[in-house]
Amino acid sequence: MKSVISILDLSTDEIDDLVRTAGKIIQRPQDYSGICKGLKLATLFFEPSTRTRLSFEAAMYELGGNVLSVAGADTSSAAKGESIRDTALTVSCYADIIAMRHPKEGAPLVASSAATVPVINAGDGGHNHPTQTLADLLTIHREKGRFSGLTIGLCGDLKFGRTVHSLIQAMSRYPDNRFVLISPEELKLPSYVKKDVLQAQGVPYEQTTDLVGAMPDLDILYMTRVQRERFFNEEDYLRLKDSYILDMRKMAYARPDMSVMHPLPRVNEISVEVDSDPRACYFKQVLNGKYMRMALILYLLREVGKVEY
Ligand code: NCD
Repeated sequence: MKSVISILDLSTDEIDDLVRTAGKIIQRPQDYSGICKGLKLATLFFEPSTRTRLSFEAAMYELGGNVLSVAGADTSSAAKGESIRDTALTVSCYADIIAMRHPKEGAPLVASSAATVPVINAGDGGHNHPTQTLADLLTIHREKGRFSGLTIGLCGDLKFGRTVHSLIQAMSRYPDNRFVLISPEELKLPSYVKKDVLQAQGVPYEQTTDLVGAMPDLDILYMTRVQRERFFNEEDYLRLKDSYILDMRKMAYARPDMSVMHPLPRVNEISVEVDSDPRACYFKQVLNGKYMRMALILYLLREVGKVEY
């Protein structure tokens, strides 16, 4: 049974298919509003979330389905010591599909090996976040019209930022993309992503600490939050949290068609004045995330024979 734990669980053909379905949903939402009638999505979120959980839930409601929700480890049997495996087996008895967020890297993978319904990773620790990448891909597709030949700047916390890791995995599969990795020394991209993804596939990249210097080359600037919850001490976080702040003064160095992306939530890393610049795409990403989650839920439920579309 197909689950989506990493973005690499979806081939580029499957991603094209999801983008096509999302496009149809945007055009004719009424054609999709009853497809999941009688079906249930369980959202198991053991870490804070606003967008991801609500967008999964909105996606299922807009498909005519229902939602069962556990928000927070402290309100579920995880607090009593239940294993991920047992939780997954239990929830499979109630729901047709599961979306799981967990602070432990690999937890959704463990859940998917026990569950008898498809499992979607909604973010595991500092590791992966494939459905944010689906939101990012639809945004890139709608803004740039292509997935190839792009220079993508990734800025901020590249060490703990799971959305960055998944986006690099996804975009490295398309030809002629280049990455500019902009971060403080302490928050550089982990070597498992650098070696196993970029170097292994011969994808060109450069590392720098200089955001302004990198700006003029970029087709996309993907800003990220410094991931406070993954730091071992608060002092390091406070020292690094404001390493990069994108404002209109810096935007003056960017191309007129550069897209500014951010998975959100933002803390300080993009000043509010940038929001009204037509290059700001981060609230479009939020909406695109809902459409891609609708497309993914449909796809996985069709794979198990529960929907037709
Ligand atoms: C991201 C996450 O949870 O990794 N948020 C999201 O899902 N849109 C980014 C973040 O928390 O910084």
